[in-house]
Amino acid sequence: MTSHNPFSLKGRTVFVTGASSGIGKSIAIECSKMGANMIVSGRNRKRLAETYDHLDGAGHRQIIADMTNKDDIDNITNPLPRLDGVVLCAGIVKTLPVKHIKDDAIEEVFQTNITSSIQIIKRLLKAKKINKGASVIFISSIAATHPKPGNALYSATKGAVNAFGKVLALELAPLKIRVNMIQPGFIKTNLLSSGIISEEQIDEHYKRYPLGPGKPEDVSHACVYLLSDAAEWITGSIFTIDGGITLK
Ligand SMILES: NC(=O)c1ccc[n+]([C@@H]2O[C@H](COP(=O)([O-])OP(=O)(O)OC[C@H]3O[C@@H](n4cnc5c(N)ncnc54)[C@H](OP(=O)(O)O)[C@@H]3O)[C@@H](O)[C@H]2O)c1
Repeated sequence: MTSHNPFSLKGRTVFVTGASSGIGKSIAIECSKMGANMIVSGRNRKRLAETYDHLDGAGHRQIIADMTNKDDIDNITNPLPRLDGVVLCAGIVKTLPVKHIKDDAIEEVFQTNITSSIQIIKRLLKAKKINKGASVIFISSIAATHPKPGNALYSATKGAVNAFGKVLALELAPLKIRVNMIQPGFIKTNLLSSGIISEEQIDEHYKRYPLGPGKPEDVSHACVYLLSDAAEWITGSIFTIDGGITLK
């Protein structure tokens, strides 16, 4: 048995937004199990503390921040140390036919799903807080490329995430900083149980998935890979993790 492990995150410092719930929570926990020092961020204090309590090892940090609050964006980035990994996972969904979309919903969904991520990355780059060899991951969605009525706002933000990430990948390649996107299919989290779709509809939807239902770990394990040295030649890629649904 050798100690060789190209997927190890030992000694890496990784920052995750949206870590108080669902996919982001799983990313934080799995990365900590692989040896990373985690800095987890979320809006809900109690839920974020739950994630924090589940992290493996010691020395992790938590930062409460609301992505719709411009001051909070500074409050997140200012105290951050130099980072080896950034996972931008915070997100919300609002399903409405286009003619019923309110202006404040446009602002909220874009600010949470894409604008805040741009603001965070920009600040981290300016402050030189992203190390050479680091990995940045945006959590996108198959909604970026697979339209569903009522999902225009959400899809638009995820399309923007993919496009932004590809340009960023090119800009940061000379610094050996990699940027990739993961676009998951349906995963049961608070995002889906927030009333946009009923439990029965989710189960019905899952019947169409070739590999059946997905779980947060299906995404977080891919994050571990992309954050690790095993993925050192991968940048600008969009990873679809969806149990095969978009093959149909
Ligand atoms: N679940 C799916 O089927 C699915 C599919 C494709 C893509 N995704 C993407 O995966 C990501 C995570 O979603 P999830 O399914 O894990 O949903 P979730 O369980 O609802 O988690 C969403 C996370 O985003 C955070 N968040 C939302 N609004 C915020 C704000 N204004 N400020 C700070 N944090 C905020 C939440 O923080 P609090 O809990 O503290 O409020 C929470 O940590 C999202 O980007 C989503 O678009 C999910």
